[in-house]
Amino acid sequence: MSVVLTELQDRILTVTINRPEKLNALNPEVIEALREALHEAKGNPDIGALIVTGQGEKAFVAGADIATFKEHDPVSARDYARRGQVVFDLLETLGKPSIAAINGFALGGGCELAMACTLRIAAKNAKLGQPEVNLGLIPGYAGTQRLPRLVGKGRALELILTADPISAEEAHRIGLVNRVVEPADLISTAREMARKILTKAPIAVRYAIEAVNRGLELPFEDAELFEATLFGLCMSTEDTKEGVNAFLEKRPARFQGR
Ligand code: COA
Repeated sequence: MSVVLTELQDRILTVTINRPEKLNALNPEVIEALREALHEAKGNPDIGALIVTGQGEKAFVAGADIATFKEHDPVSARDYARRGQVVFDLLETLGKPSIAAINGFALGGGCELAMACTLRIAAKNAKLGQPEVNLGLIPGYAGTQRLPRLVGKGRALELILTADPISAEEAHRIGLVNRVVEPADLISTAREMARKILTKAPIAVRYAIEAVNRGLELPFEDAELFEATLFGLCMSTEDTKEGVNAFLEKRPARFQGR
């Protein structure tokens, strides 16, 4: 059985981290399988959106596989962190929206994986955190970067320095997750959200994600210019003509991704 399962239904690819006996901890095999699944998703026009989740009822992903940490020297550990960062960057820049369906523990690399998704929905019983300092480490899959961008510097530092996991409700309160739902409703809510986004113009969705992600890293005026350029590109698409005509003709738009 693969450590990463994929299932395509209604243009939504569900990617399930599948090591439930180790609470879906990320080892190099999982990272590589995830990279392959994301690479395939990027190039496959039949895939419009992704849901990322964990197998079983207990964990989304309980972190990087701590058992593998004994093997590292400084250089291999740097490579290890970079490999994970690159795969999570691929997820963030896929050009297709991704939703983390957080079905339990999302700790360390699990919280970092969820943060690399476009949106996050948590089950009520989920727990999120960055407990790396308990191991004498710091987050290594971009948690020190994505967490403050999502929740602000002060809250990010509190989570990272105390290592305390927080509840789904608290994660919602601070903006780390978009929604909290009953565990039984988690996947259906994620699918509903993905389906709604899939009714929108795909190029506009892709550029909106890019404008937010890239724009946040640029000086404000450069980000505005970047936004204006993507706005201009959108204006040249058939989908914009369709969207405008559909509005004026008072009918639903049928977008083609062109
Ligand atoms: N890496 C490797 N193995 C892990 C793991 C991780 N991050 N998280 C859980 N596991 C393994 C456990 O070692 C255990 O394996 P075993 O049955 O072979 O002993 C199995 O998953 C079940 O976990 P267990 O600790 O028994 O479950 P629990 O309900 O008592 O506790 C957690 C759950 C999440 C609180 C606990 O597993 C934990 O603290 N995990 C590590 C979290 C962490 O520090 N992540 C960041 C890593 S950088």
